[in-house]
Amino acid sequence: MSDQHGSTPLPGGFWTLGDLTVTRFGYGAMQLAGPGVMGPPADPGNALAVLRDVAELGITHIDTAGAYGPRVTNRLIRAALHPYPDSLRIVTKVGAERDQQGGWPPARDPGSLRRAVHENLEDLGVDVLDVVNLRLGDAAGPRPEPVAQAFETLAELQRQGLIRHLGLSNATPEQVIEAQAIAPIVSVQNLYNLAHRADDELIDELSHQGVAYVPFFPLGGFSPLQSSALSAVAARLESPPISVALAWLLRRSPNILLIPGTSSRIHLRENITGANLTLSAEDLAELDKIGR
Ligand SMILES: NC(=O)c1ccc[n+]([C@@H]2O[C@H](COP(=O)([O-])OP(=O)(O)OC[C@H]3O[C@@H](n4cnc5c(N)ncnc54)[C@H](OP(=O)(O)O)[C@@H]3O)[C@@H](O)[C@H]2O)c1
Repeated sequence: MSDQHGSTPLPGGFWTLGDLTVTRFGYGAMQLAGPGVMGPPADPGNALAVLRDVAELGITHIDTAGAYGPRVTNRLIRAALHPYPDSLRIVTKVGAERDQQGGWPPARDPGSLRRAVHENLEDLGVDVLDVVNLRLGDAAGPRPEPVAQAFETLAELQRQGLIRHLGLSNATPEQVIEAQAIAPIVSVQNLYNLAHRADDELIDELSHQGVAYVPFFPLGGFSPLQSSALSAVAARLESPPISVALAWLLRRSPNILLIPGTSSRIHLRENITGANLTLSAEDLAELDKIGR
């Protein structure tokens, strides 16, 4: 596929986050940390190889967070890819920490956010972070909490030149509006997939505004997507359900960016091939009923 940004063999072509062009087919690095997203991976050599493959395959959007490990995936990304290719954009998140039990307690006071941004800069080995998402809510999902103080802290770090663009994660539509009154955002990263479609309206609104929507758990996360309608379409197309789920997301809206996570070099390639699957109007109508 080609457009004004050049060409890519990756499914979906390109999207622009503010002034940063990325391939719509990206990569989510969370699965590279150890079990429960804590500690180092069992096979660090494999994790580095996956990341090098990501860059070699032409993917220019890597999603990460200082909380993965914590501080494990960012250091793996640096070890594998620094100095980074000019085209590569690394999107990170702040706003949650890790506790001894592997939980994700919020850390959105100004001091914690400043510390998190500086740790991300250090661990990734960059002077400016491409995109920083403020991660809201908790592991159970978004919560209707005020975002002003936390988002103003990040906007201040952006004015200081440490962050190029801002985004939100695990956010309600009301929080998106509240944050946008403080500073522009380029992306919202929320839970969304064929079976979890609470954000349908938000996706359409963001698409209208030219803001990216980046679904996390595009494949269901820790519990793989399961649905008889998905299985039926996948069987008809003689493709794995994962391929159908990714191809559907790319078709769902032009502002959707994919960040499927994998710790497998084989799965990485399978997912690229899978997202290229062509879905007919009949397939789409059948799939559309799943999460409604
Ligand atoms: N903002 C947030 O709060 C938040 C929360 C969660 C995640 N995220 C981001 O979203 C990204 C994606 O989410 P995710 O990785 O948790 O979930 P996901 O992409 O929905 O699914 C990842 C799971 O699918 C498996 N998988 C991937 N490709 C496969 C294939 N071709 N065949 C079989 N299994 C396959 C992976 O196992 P293998 O490793 O064996 O391939 C892994 O267990 C994360 O990496 C992270 O960057 C953000």
